[in-house]
Amino acid sequence: MRTYVVSGGTAGMGRGLARHFLRRGDQVTIIGSDPAKGRRFLDQAARAGDRTAFVQADLTSVAENVRVIKEITARHESLDGLVLTAMRHFPRRVETPDGFEATFALYYVSRTVLGYGLTGLLEKGENPMIVSVCGVGVTKGRIHWDDLSLRNGFGHIKAVLQAGRATDLLGVAYSAGHPGGRTRFLLHHPGFTDSGADSLGGPAKAVVKVLARFFAQPIEKSIQPIIELMDDAPGRGLLAYDRRTPIDPSLPTLDPGDARRLYERTAHVLRP
Ligand SMILES: NC(=O)c1ccc[n+]([C@@H]2O[C@H](COP(=O)([O-])OP(=O)(O)OC[C@H]3O[C@@H](n4cnc5c(N)ncnc54)[C@H](OP(=O)(O)O)[C@@H]3O)[C@@H](O)[C@H]2O)c1
Repeated sequence: MRTYVVSGGTAGMGRGLARHFLRRGDQVTIIGSDPAKGRRFLDQAARAGDRTAFVQADLTSVAENVRVIKEITARHESLDGLVLTAMRHFPRRVETPDGFEATFALYYVSRTVLGYGLTGLLEKGENPMIVSVCGVGVTKGRIHWDDLSLRNGFGHIKAVLQAGRATDLLGVAYSAGHPGGRTRFLLHHPGFTDSGADSLGGPAKAVVKVLARFFAQPIEKSIQPIIELMDDAPGRGLLAYDRRTPIDPSLPTLDPGDARRLYERTAHVLRP
């Protein structure tokens, strides 16, 4: 029996992956902010008994991520995979108690704290992997080095693109920082998927729902390449894929210098 943690496991691709692991007999802890969604997941997975658990947490907060790490460390002695899917859209600027713009906090800071914080358990797992489901390969957007929290000139899309580029760099920094480690890091772009529109709200949600009906892949199809890569990853070091296609590691959005710079700018979150 393998053991997985899925942040954002109460909906979308995270829930799809969590259900897949449970179906094949593995142990899964999911994390989400909405207790009702967590209860629903557990009710639907009742046959899995104590192979599954839900940890309620608002992952935009560093302290909450640290609490989650403590709970997972109390529950598991080792991990075989950490799947990072938690994401939400913030149409207006929200600043977290740690001073981060909320999209950046959820998409980048939480993944950083959970990834590094659970590495000790992952290193004891069998073929351990961190999977960040993201928009790797997209080259739009950039890191606003002089204004990471977007205090001057916030825009919803600007925030999503910056946080996405930051998440790409997390994979690069993590892989470069663990040359002797056993834990692989997979950056995975799932393609347009019929999930995730709920947090958009307003007219944007309606538009994305209509587009999804015609153009998006179902969740079960989007998660299949992730499952294959988790079970049998080729090569060594960082893995970056758009569905089943490897992404060129020399893309400017995967620049090792930028990855190091971002790590250094934000490493204080690992010592709260
Ligand atoms: N869908 C697509 O077309 C697409 C395309 C490319 C990349 N992606 C990326 O793939 C990932 C997964 O997307 P998805 O569409 O599967 O997402 P989704 O259906 O919107 O699910 C997001 C998950 O994040 C959790 N979450 C949101 N805010 C949270 C918070 N503050 N604390 C803890 N958990 C929180 C939600 O649970 P609660 O509501 O319980 O908090 C939910 O379980 C995202 O990173 C997304 O950017 C998606």
